[in-house]
Amino acid sequence: MFARRIAVIGSGYVGLTTGACLASLGHRVVCADVDEAKVERLRRGVVDIVEPGLPELVAENQAAGRLEFVLGARDAVAGRDGDAVEVVFLCVPTPMGEGGAADLAAVRDVAAQVRHLLPAGCVVVNKSTVPVGTAEATRKLLNRRDVAVVSNPEFLREGSAVHDFLHPDRIVVGSDAQDAAERVAALYARLGAPTVLTDAASAEMVKYAANCFLAMKLSYVNALAEMCDVLGADVADVTEGMGHDRRIGQAFLQPGPGWGGSCLPKDTNALVQVAAAAGIELPLVSASIATNERQRRIVVGKIADAVGGSLAGRRIGLLGLTFKAGTDDLRDSPALAVARLLRAGGAELTAYDPGCPAAVPGVTDDVTVADEPLRAAKDADALVVLTEWPQFRSLDWAAVAGALAGRVVVDCRNLLDPDVLRRAGISWVGVGRR
Ligand code: UGA
Repeated sequence: MFARRIAVIGSGYVGLTTGACLASLGHRVVCADVDEAKVERLRRGVVDIVEPGLPELVAENQAAGRLEFVLGARDAVAGRDGDAVEVVFLCVPTPMGEGGAADLAAVRDVAAQVRHLLPAGCVVVNKSTVPVGTAEATRKLLNRRDVAVVSNPEFLREGSAVHDFLHPDRIVVGSDAQDAAERVAALYARLGAPTVLTDAASAEMVKYAANCFLAMKLSYVNALAEMCDVLGADVADVTEGMGHDRRIGQAFLQPGPGWGGSCLPKDTNALVQVAAAAGIELPLVSASIATNERQRRIVVGKIADAVGGSLAGRRIGLLGLTFKAGTDDLRDSPALAVARLLRAGGAELTAYDPGCPAAVPGVTDDVTVADEPLRAAKDADALVVLTEWPQFRSLDWAAVAGALAGRVVVDCRNLLDPDVLRRAGISWVGVGRR
């Protein structure tokens, strides 16, 4: 039979996307969360996270009876209508813990709650990004010979998670029990994606290896952009020239104010920690983290230059606060890190971000949050683009020029068309651009 009975523990960004997408593939899915209010909202079809297509997918599959929401892991793993759960996905948070390593408390907690309830023959799948060895540790925590543990990392980008789930570049499934790995891979059969079947440790490693590679790629590009600024080259042409080489590819070559978000910073730090604990140095990844920190200071230096050298008492408008466009996520946002440094230099900051329409206490305290872009530009000595929201391209630049006190835009994402700005009487400063 194709349709499987699946429980998903944790209905956050990964769990909810996984649950709704698996249901859309025809499986019968029960999603659990510990947050009662969230479960209530999800039952009513209210999705709290900004993820294109997800609310529709949740509503559609709930209506079709393939997706339901329950409070707590125990209820999710209990069978329905005499049908036992066959696959249990763990999609719980693994935040950065002590010293940068992933904190596995939530995985441990769920394992303790469900271990006696799992039906014989079911498969427990780790979907959260977890250190190598977690599948093995989960197997020991469950201590059930008749339950297999599988690692099946996710590769979903925020803002395109549904698309990424339904059109994956690859599916990676690892287990020391091969039949269990094959059963999990079969859940995705309809997607027709290349599938890597391996052991649990290798599958766990793939996720860190991929995210750290992406982070290294970005740090390399940011360092190249700095060189281009000094040497008079243009990073857009350099990356295009590099990217045509199919071994390199055009994707993920945009310089910026540094990389952030809830994944790359956490995973680079975790891999360095895990390596150190294993007695292995990982200078490439450590240097990428250091380059990322430096990139923020380089950007702040550019902004200081644009306002005459000193930030003290300068009014600076910021366009963008979220860690990338298309999300409301402020976690580890490079824009906020830059704002913190500007503030420390004595600048007064007003920011506009379409994904963050109001102040978030404790998070956006370095800035005054404006509800429209012209307010951020008003009387500013410079306007700075920190997040690559496409709508910034089509701002009314004549009106922006009229609002600015200093007619300069520092475009930390190389997002805008310099000619459009010049025509509006604004000088444009990019990252690594001629
Ligand atoms: C990242 C990975 O891309 C996903 O494959 C992975 O599944 C996910 O982490 C995860 O571990 O769950 P995400 O954190 O959503 O996804 O964000 P990205 O789109 O990768 O962007 C990360 C950062 O790099 C952002 O700050 C973004 O602005 C920056 N970036 C990205 C650049 O500065 N330049 C680029 O060319 C691309």
